[in-house]
Amino acid sequence: MDSAQEYILQVQNLSKSFAGVKALDQVQLKVKRGEVHALMGENGAGKSTFMKILIGMHTADSGEIIFEGQPILSKHSHTQAALKKGIAMIHQELLLVPQMTVAQNLFLGKETITWFPWWVNDKRIHQQATALLQKIGLDIDPQKKLKRLRVAEMQMVEIAKAISNEAKIIIMDEPTSAISDKEVETLFSIITDLKKKGVAIIYISHKMDEIFTIADTITVLRDGKYIDTKPASQLNSQTLISMMVGRQLTTVFPQAAHTKGEIMLSVKELHRKHTFSHITFDVHKGEVLGIAGLMGAGRTEVARAICGLDPVDRGEMYVKGKKVRIDSTKEAFAQGIGYVSEDRKGVGLVPGMSVKQNITLASLEKYSKGWFVNETSESAVVSKMIDELRIKTAGLDQPVKYLSGGNQQKVVIGKVLLSSPDIIILDEPTRGIDVGAKAEIYKLIHQLTAKGIAIILISSELPEVLGLSDRILVMAKGRQRAIIPKAEATQEKIMKYAMEQ
Ligand SMILES: Nc1ncnc2c1ncn2[C@@H]1O[C@H](COP(=O)(O)OP(=O)(O)OP(=O)(O)O)[C@@H](O)[C@H]1O
Ligand SMILES: [Mg+2]
Repeated sequence: MDSAQEYILQVQNLSKSFAGVKALDQVQLKVKRGEVHALMGENGAGKSTFMKILIGMHTADSGEIIFEGQPILSKHSHTQAALKKGIAMIHQELLLVPQMTVAQNLFLGKETITWFPWWVNDKRIHQQATALLQKIGLDIDPQKKLKRLRVAEMQMVEIAKAISNEAKIIIMDEPTSAISDKEVETLFSIITDLKKKGVAIIYISHKMDEIFTIADTITVLRDGKYIDTKPASQLNSQTLISMMVGRQLTTVFPQAAHTKGEIMLSVKELHRKHTFSHITFDVHKGEVLGIAGLMGAGRTEVARAICGLDPVDRGEMYVKGKKVRIDSTKEAFAQGIGYVSEDRKGVGLVPGMSVKQNITLASLEKYSKGWFVNETSESAVVSKMIDELRIKTAGLDQPVKYLSGGNQQKVVIGKVLLSSPDIIILDEPTRGIDVGAKAEIYKLIHQLTAKGIAIILISSELPEVLGLSDRILVMAKGRQRAIIPKAEATQEKIMKYAMEQ
């Protein structure tokens, strides 16, 4: 077979800079028909930028892209053109329209049916959507408004949309970052079907186990440069990680023992209708309390209630023994409770504002004298935070929307840290974060507990909860099922409680 037959996509010497920042430097990629090609690299390595060039969302500065034997213009293409050729992308940050229904989103941008009156149209797309969702085994009501779906469901709708476009290459940029294990299974069986039809998948994920389950070939980028391409069967997670970070990474969980102090936060019989009930726990100074549970168990809902984002119907909260009533984030902040939310777009960040503004947002009063913000001291603390968290940004004034996904997450953490809280709730803090940065966040958690901060850690990654927590609270269906001390906690035991009916 000549290479044009074998490879559906060939990219050579592709480069792209953003205002002086070299995001991609002479990268290459060769994707075969019907293969799952994983694109790996640390946060900010250039993966999303590369893919956005392929679909015409960004234009390359130089380089060559050959799709099905034909050069495609990297300079003048746009997303609709890429889609027509058969290149679709499921984005890391969702691009669907929240006010529209699932069906409307699925068929958005397809002109073929617009000359019908709207009610006919609506019925038609509704029928087509039902058929499409059924075909790929998704149990979602096409008439539901998108904003009423869970993040996981939204992600599945994006996937359905790409499939409906009959794409020849589907790019999936962290498609599983917010979906449950069961949905991952569904996605993987969809991918297997697509492969059989000769569709190529470019798959981006920071989850090693997924990569080794699904990928045929792996290409690694580091700091915008091409490192290597290898069959997945020739790599293991150790060798892959060292290709990605360019060094050996040792023990992921620092094994420092925590010294438990006084009770910092006490939650008693917290109850919110239809959401959770009988939530009762203490968190001590210097302790990590993990909260485990399946998707939809109510973990984030409890966190949101504690932080004053959602009201509760019953229950009491005490901070350092004093009874408190927290009904706003401002009040939570005043009581020394910080929240790093799982959804960085919703409550975490203001995308159009700079890294500096976002980090100092919650602590602005500290740096202002009267009406004036003290710029110098503000910049100094922000620079220190950027160094400590190793946030990859062109500068303090870079809008956060231009940062890579993982680096945006670090900005959210930086923002909370700067407000120097006594209690920090971390909700999926390592979602979308690369292995190296994960290790840094784990180290950071230990440094925080050493300073006497109490931490509540919500995570869907069991090894993470097990590795970091002193005690683990397990939730299922809105109820607290057990609190297990570290010494007695095992993966099986946690799962048993998490699956309770
Ligand atoms: N529109 C933009 N303007 C300026 N800089 C940008 C823009 N988009 C990306 N960058 C920069 O390009 C680099 C690569 O970012 P990219 O989003 O491609 O990384 P990534 O590999 O997808 O990372 P992650 O794993 O965190 O998603 C980063 O330094 C980022 O800040
Ligand atoms: Mg990315």
